[in-house]
Amino acid sequence: MDEPDWKGPLGEAFGSALEYLEGLPVRPVGSSASVEELRVALGGRLPEAPSEPREVIAALAAAAEPGLVATPSGRFFGFVIGGASPAALAADWLTAAWDQNAGLSVLGPAAAATEQVAGGWLAELLGLPAEVSVGFVTGVQQANFTALAAARHETLRRVGWNVEADGLAGAPRVRVLAGQERHDTIDRALRFLGLGTAAVAPVAVDRQGRMRPAALRASLRVGSGPAIVCAQLGNVNTGAVDPVGEICQVAHEAGAWAHVDGAFGLWAAASPYDSGLVFCAHPDAHRAAMSVRASYLIHGANGERDALDYNPEFSRRARGFPVYAAVRALGRRGIAELVERCCALARRFADRLAAHDGVEVLNDVVLNQVLVRFQAADGDHDGHTRRVVRRVQRDGTCWMSGTTWHGQAAMRISVTNWSTDEADVDESVAAILRCAAGR
Ligand SMILES: Cc1ncc(COP(=O)(O)O)c(C=O)c1O
Repeated sequence: MDEPDWKGPLGEAFGSALEYLEGLPVRPVGSSASVEELRVALGGRLPEAPSEPREVIAALAAAAEPGLVATPSGRFFGFVIGGASPAALAADWLTAAWDQNAGLSVLGPAAAATEQVAGGWLAELLGLPAEVSVGFVTGVQQANFTALAAARHETLRRVGWNVEADGLAGAPRVRVLAGQERHDTIDRALRFLGLGTAAVAPVAVDRQGRMRPAALRASLRVGSGPAIVCAQLGNVNTGAVDPVGEICQVAHEAGAWAHVDGAFGLWAAASPYDSGLVFCAHPDAHRAAMSVRASYLIHGANGERDALDYNPEFSRRARGFPVYAAVRALGRRGIAELVERCCALARRFADRLAAHDGVEVLNDVVLNQVLVRFQAADGDHDGHTRRVVRRVQRDGTCWMSGTTWHGQAAMRISVTNWSTDEADVDESVAAILRCAAGR
């Protein structure tokens, strides 16, 4: 076989990537093409004959370009996404080039060692006990799923039920006590785990969405049997943080398992997404819920860590490399500065917007989230707010999404990008006010 041409397609991809990244400060943040237009540009008949890889990459980049949302832009404030830092992105390229399967130590010793090192660093950085087990998953949905699988294992084991062997039919019912403002991924994880969303006893929250420990205590007293308490660090709308120390204490006093959805409240958004972490203070429960053995697998003979004992995936991309690079490039100080900067810029957003008549900030800005509502002369504040969000998305200066908070339409601003600075915020505020004025 001829020597493969790596340089052609990789060089093409590098050139396109650099053009995109260097163009971020000036390109519109939103996409400029519809999905239908993109489907036409990318589509056509199933190719019969092979094509030259470099040309495929060039054609893909050209066709996809108008359909890219500039998520890594410093003026992207949608959802809670953040953007890949340069070191993390470069490490992610290496991850793709190295093509390691991170499921087993024997398949990727470097991936296994990197995850162990990065996992240890992160536990220390986040103030977690040194003995926690860690899994590198795709995002917080999978982290919630994995951690709740460990919770399901342990709460049922304590009442003599082996859920991994016997399933849930005939098992004692597991109660799940979670705040009324929990993230939807908790309910989705309960669906996947067979516990069911009806297992949730919603616990009252305050105006900002924080769970009330007294309500939790009362709710725990009402029932009996295995129980899991779900606390949350960072409400997806307001950024409000549950009083997690008190909640864990109440949970433990009642013999319940404490689960914490740390999402963005726990972890500084310093690594790319398609990257989540699950930590468990009960490594045996974590392993019991996740581990798998098969005749053809080769497990570490000398106690090496096999990642599939901590993840729901079997084969898996080695997503520890970019996390390692992000943490190493920033260091503890860089990560703290990044978090503090995002929070300060969220307050700047709130202060500048609230200074204008007809603009109301709905939440206490305690983290990186700002909820904004726009008042209309005709009293249709919901309609006006949704219109402003749509106009901002079309305007292209910045991008943010909308939500409904306590029955009121609101614009959600999430400051999570490492590159966002004061000028980005000021430019975005000006665009938002322009759109609110209908200009
Ligand atoms: C509190 C909370 N939990 C879970 C998630 C889901 O995270 P992911 O999209 O990484 O699965 C989010 C996303 O914003 C969140 O804010």
